[in-house]
Amino acid sequence: MVEGTSANKGFVIGDAASLEYIGQIDLYKIDWKNRFASLAIVIGRKECLGKGYGSEAIRLLQRFAFEELNFNRLELEVYEYNLAAHKCYLKCGFQEEGRYRKKIYKNGTYWDSLVMSILKNEYKK
Ligand SMILES: CC(C)(COP(=O)(O)OP(=O)(O)OC[C@H]1O[C@@H](n2cnc3c(N)ncnc32)[C@H](O)[C@@H]1OP(=O)(O)O)[C@@H](O)C(=O)NCCC(=O)NCCS
Repeated sequence: MVEGTSANKGFVIGDAASLEYIGQIDLYKIDWKNRFASLAIVIGRKECLGKGYGSEAIRLLQRFAFEELNFNRLELEVYEYNLAAHKCYLKCGFQEEGRYRKKIYKNGTYWDSLVMSILKNEYKK
């Protein structure tokens, strides 16, 4: 991953060998006092989905956030219909801690928005 330069911490996810662009992962809404941030990720090339890049990038970012930045918590929101992202976050140790009910309107239906987080001591396990 290559670190960005903005106030948020943004990283490009690239292929280690070819350096081709695969996607992007960001820490944003960083709260330095309370040591937490939100996480967002997108694998931008369709042919790269489902190949382990997303979970690897999340784990690398967790290591950076918890070990280098000494964060205590990472959080995110994922929409109920986004099963791939939800499963990916669960695999990476995020837990659901609540949900905004019927917050998102898509394809004629209202969907919940799930709030997920992982704490430093959970990451260490
Ligand atoms: C969410 C996202 C980052 C996951 O990245 P990825 O590289 O495709 O995921 P991985 O290959 O690392 O898969 C990790 C786990 O996610 C789950 N998963 C991934 N793709 C899935 C799919 N199409 N259906 C169901 N589960 C899926 C699996 O549990 C998988 O673990 P497993 O391979 O051991 O079964 C990617 O799908 C993406 O960029 N989606 C579009 C943008 C987006 O939705 N971002 C999140 C917004 S909250």
